[in-house]
Amino acid sequence: MCGIVGYVGKPPVVGTVLDALSRLEYRGYDSAGIAVFNGRGIEVRKRVGKLKELIASLNTQPLEGQAAVGHTRWATHGEPSERNAHPHLDCRGELALVHNGIVENYAELKARLLGQGHRFRSQTDTEVIAHLVEEHAKRLPLAEAFRSALKELRGSYALCLIAKRDPTHLHGARAGSPLIVGLGRGEAFLASDVPAVLARTRRVIYLNEQEVVELSTSGVKLTTLNGTPVARKPSTVSWDLSAAQKEGYDHFMLKEIFEQPSAVERTLYNRLDAAKGQIAFDHRTRAFLSRLSSREKFVIIACGTAYHAGLVGGYMLEELAKIPVDVDLASEFRYRAPMLDRDTTVIAITQSGETADTLAGVRLAKEQGAKVLAICNVMGSSIPREADAVLYTHAGPEIAVASTKAYTSQLTVLYLLTLSLAKRRGLVKPARLRELLTTLGRLPRLIERSLAAEPAIKRIARRYARARNFYYLGRRYNFPSALEGALKLKEICPRIHAEGYAAGEMKHGPISLIRNGWPVVFLATDSTVYEKVVSNIEEVRARKGECLLIASEGNRAIRRHADALITVPKTEELFSPILIAAPLQLLAYHIARLNGCDIDQPPNLAKSVTVE
Ligand code: AGP
Repeated sequence: MCGIVGYVGKPPVVGTVLDALSRLEYRGYDSAGIAVFNGRGIEVRKRVGKLKELIASLNTQPLEGQAAVGHTRWATHGEPSERNAHPHLDCRGELALVHNGIVENYAELKARLLGQGHRFRSQTDTEVIAHLVEEHAKRLPLAEAFRSALKELRGSYALCLIAKRDPTHLHGARAGSPLIVGLGRGEAFLASDVPAVLARTRRVIYLNEQEVVELSTSGVKLTTLNGTPVARKPSTVSWDLSAAQKEGYDHFMLKEIFEQPSAVERTLYNRLDAAKGQIAFDHRTRAFLSRLSSREKFVIIACGTAYHAGLVGGYMLEELAKIPVDVDLASEFRYRAPMLDRDTTVIAITQSGETADTLAGVRLAKEQGAKVLAICNVMGSSIPREADAVLYTHAGPEIAVASTKAYTSQLTVLYLLTLSLAKRRGLVKPARLRELLTTLGRLPRLIERSLAAEPAIKRIARRYARARNFYYLGRRYNFPSALEGALKLKEICPRIHAEGYAAGEMKHGPISLIRNGWPVVFLATDSTVYEKVVSNIEEVRARKGECLLIASEGNRAIRRHADALITVPKTEELFSPILIAAPLQLLAYHIARLNGCDIDQPPNLAKSVTVE
């Protein structure tokens, strides 16, 4: 949470930092600020609210200079206000610092610094770092003072600092929060994430944990916290700028919903040969899978939408690969006493690769001797780097807070993994495998057909946009779809309460809430539990609930149970969640739009949850 940017290079320095920040706003947007070295000293501008407030202020009263740091905030310590917004300064206003993370020992550090005469202006944990560097810099050169200050911090940070006494350099460091270096021509960046720099460069260096960087237009010096030099060549990222722009869509979320066929296609690319019945993974993953024992147990950990993908994965891995699977919320897993051993593989699913709870779960798993397989969308992020093997989704940058294409790409990887394991274990006949792989290869086209339901979905959204409570119900593979559909709606439309439930659980409580006109979205595609779902639909109708059904194309009989109907291509039950996803996302999107919600940046949320 929070996006940070640092820049040294050519003018307009402020415009460049603002442009980079605009591509990180998904990380937080309750206030924004910038500090610029103007040749004489450091000037700061901060505004509460979204980045556009800061931009408006800078348009009226411009700042310019040679180096700058900028920040877009998701508040942890201290309410969103100008004085709590970053950058934060030392006492003399001679160094400015932006931070993403939490300094857990800030109270004790602050007490000490106050005792040493430092004056604090904010309620944040971050400001202690500025004063701590100032204190160490009384005795040490800036780079050393920075490293000495870092050694005193507990918690997580990605930091970027500029200082009057060394204005041609940016100083950065990471521990627990992401930070990348972007190397352009005659310019250099530090940023929380790759999309920030894509407009200027695709040459990046990913910082590892506990690494420190000193950066200027003429070079990069990467070290450990102790100052030991670290050699790392820049990588070239394959994403291009269009992936981080709206390209004519009104919202990133809508663009990303419609990118799902290509995201799934890219995720399958070079991995699937349906005609030969083959699934190919990279060498490291193949070696990893070949080490799994016959007693292997899987524990899938993830948060939010990635957890819902994990739940679908649990069903398919048990059904087809006959591997026992627990699926756990990473935030719970890390605080219970999970029974892990050498025959356990923890599968960590994460779009960002930075989610704090999932990362903590990965570390716990490794401490206890389990193996870790990551399913992740962001190359070079923390979780894949700590995992024993990685299956990347190739969804491209996901900017909207509401996850869409990352979810369907995660499902795609889980299909590949499941079928590959089923094949390795001799649990699926060659002809059946080819049949399943052929359907897998057709998923991009089938998702396109699901997306074609948009006009019908828009009409349904108009009909139900004023409702304030929704249930989403499904069974088996589509119980997770129900959770995901409800999460999408409540996430982007905070005026609406939406709840996903296992349809079979309705009678155990929630059905008592159903009233006249209460919309209930039923996931009623053809499946082994279809008739059970139809019975649940009738129970809701008997209580005058409104049944919005998502059913398989060609199912005419279902019409008489439906107040509103959306159809998706008929497919095998295990593939139904990936075809149901787009209509659920579009339904949430259009309801939110009709309610005037801030779809890409819903209040109180941030895309990457890098704090607990
Ligand atoms: C999904 O729409 C949410 N924004 C959120 O639940 C997200 O899926 C969750 O925070 C996990 O993030 P990750 O995939 O980056 O780990």
